[in-house]
Amino acid sequence: MCGIVGYVGSLDARTIVLDGLKKLEYRGYDSSGIALRCNNDFKIFKDKGRIAHLCEITDYSFKTNMGIAHTRWATHGMVNYENSHPHISNNKRFILVHNGIIENYRKLKIDYLSDYSFYSETDSEVIVNLIEFYSKKMSAEQAIRKAMSMLEGSYALLILDKENMDTIYCVKNKTPLNIGVSNDGITIASDIIAFPSNVNKFLSLDDQRFAIIKNNNVKIFDLMGFEVEANYKELKLDEYSISKGNYEHYMLKEIEEQPDVIRRIITKYFDNENVLIDKNLIEAIKNSDKINFVACGTSLYASFMGKYFFEKLCGIPTECFIASELVYSNPLMTKKPIFIFVSQSGETLDCITVMKKYKDLGYKIVSITNSVESTMAYFSDFILDICANTEVSVASTKSYTASIAVMSILAKAVSNQKTNLKNNLNRVSLVIENIIQDLKPLIKDMASKIKDSNAIFYIGRGIDYWACDEGALKLKEISYINTESYSSGELKHGTIALIEKGTPVIAIVTQEGTNSIVRSNLEEAISRGAKGYVISLESLAYSKDDIIIPNVAHYLTPLVSVVVCQMLAYYVALYKNNDIDRPKNLAKSVTVE
Ligand code: G6P
Repeated sequence: MCGIVGYVGSLDARTIVLDGLKKLEYRGYDSSGIALRCNNDFKIFKDKGRIAHLCEITDYSFKTNMGIAHTRWATHGMVNYENSHPHISNNKRFILVHNGIIENYRKLKIDYLSDYSFYSETDSEVIVNLIEFYSKKMSAEQAIRKAMSMLEGSYALLILDKENMDTIYCVKNKTPLNIGVSNDGITIASDIIAFPSNVNKFLSLDDQRFAIIKNNNVKIFDLMGFEVEANYKELKLDEYSISKGNYEHYMLKEIEEQPDVIRRIITKYFDNENVLIDKNLIEAIKNSDKINFVACGTSLYASFMGKYFFEKLCGIPTECFIASELVYSNPLMTKKPIFIFVSQSGETLDCITVMKKYKDLGYKIVSITNSVESTMAYFSDFILDICANTEVSVASTKSYTASIAVMSILAKAVSNQKTNLKNNLNRVSLVIENIIQDLKPLIKDMASKIKDSNAIFYIGRGIDYWACDEGALKLKEISYINTESYSSGELKHGTIALIEKGTPVIAIVTQEGTNSIVRSNLEEAISRGAKGYVISLESLAYSKDDIIIPNVAHYLTPLVSVVVCQMLAYYVALYKNNDIDRPKNLAKSVTVE
């Protein structure tokens, strides 16, 4: 997955696309590049490395009102100059940036482009040459449409043509592309956060659409070349969310936003004690015989809490599926399942693929997402906004707690039980504040003790185990320490062999029923040389515990214990001087399979 941005208008295109690209860096940051119009030619600057480097190598000496740019997360070929975008066709007529994966690029290369030279290992270079190949027999527009009809896979493309110097061609299939309009020009971007602040309306291109941007005008066509209506929406961007404020890193800012996010969710979904959720959604869940959660990464770990809520509160059997597993497997379905997809971005390709598959089979689809304008939201019968505002840090934090809070409210609405959920969530927001303000020194101290470890284990049982999963993921993502989460009872069935002198084993204990057994399991690890740490809830705490969290309702404890884990990961990464918001090898939105 990658990020692309383009601009044509009356302002300096270089500034607009580079600014936009910086906001898209979450989509990948292995290499980056830009093509800018310079009189009757295009100049290309590209290299491996981050956008800050691209800004350094870009020439600022000429006027330019048109450009396209790309930030890459390598899928085909190494991270190097040759594989960086933009790519250029053999006769140098067409220039292209691409986000997505072309599955049949090898076949296209052999069948149509055997006379062509290739300078990169990318599938993208095949597209630009395929367009050139057809342009010898037809117009640029026709050649692009012809090439599109032959591509299998996902693609968002911006294309420049030296014979149509005033035009940006845009193409979209299965990977997002948005066109924003402002008084000075038109911006195209993988994500609307890359738009300049004066864009006031935008449209998201549908799959298999082709747009021509020329003379401050946008025309959209289908694959046959018939013009289709452009449906614009008003754009409202939350500027605070996409700025770092006074923080050194987005991750810390987003961790500390969590109390506000929880309060926003309460305001949105409660009217006094009544839950404000679409009655049709509640009925659809009540009428189902099984809930299937589908998600990836942090959203998957949040889904496990959804399973807990729906089984405990509503008595509905619930299963959590890894989206990428469901793409190829066909597990047995019950008679009336409902699918709940959890996704911060709403653009994770594995989720979208599964969503389309089960939607086509006629099942009801719900999305719990932070992006109500996303592709997943578009395909859903019901959408629940997690109200977290833009999350920029690649390591997800506020989306985890926000998704769980929304799931708890949905489960309450379905169960119709008289729980004290609203007050309990309010209490969660206060306790998170307390962790951020008062427990920070203790968490930093613990981070300094574990920062040089080669391996770390989190252990817990039940819902503490699920919080451990997310805690371990945070440490892996940004500290690069091999951290595993284990159900504490399972540790002794093999993994305990990995415990060495001083290996940190962190136990999360917030549940009365499992408090002593998890502590016993920790002792077993300590007897084999581990350095034990305990994160506990006040009501169950021993005085020697390392981090003691003020009490919250027993069924909401992952919302607070995870904040300790997030901060622990943050400070370990800070001590190690790692790139916290842009960890190596990762991208925030995974739009490839
Ligand atoms: C990527 C990100 C993770 C995220 C996962 C799912 O792997 O690095 O932080 O949890 O995608 O993303 P989603 O947007 O679907 O929640």
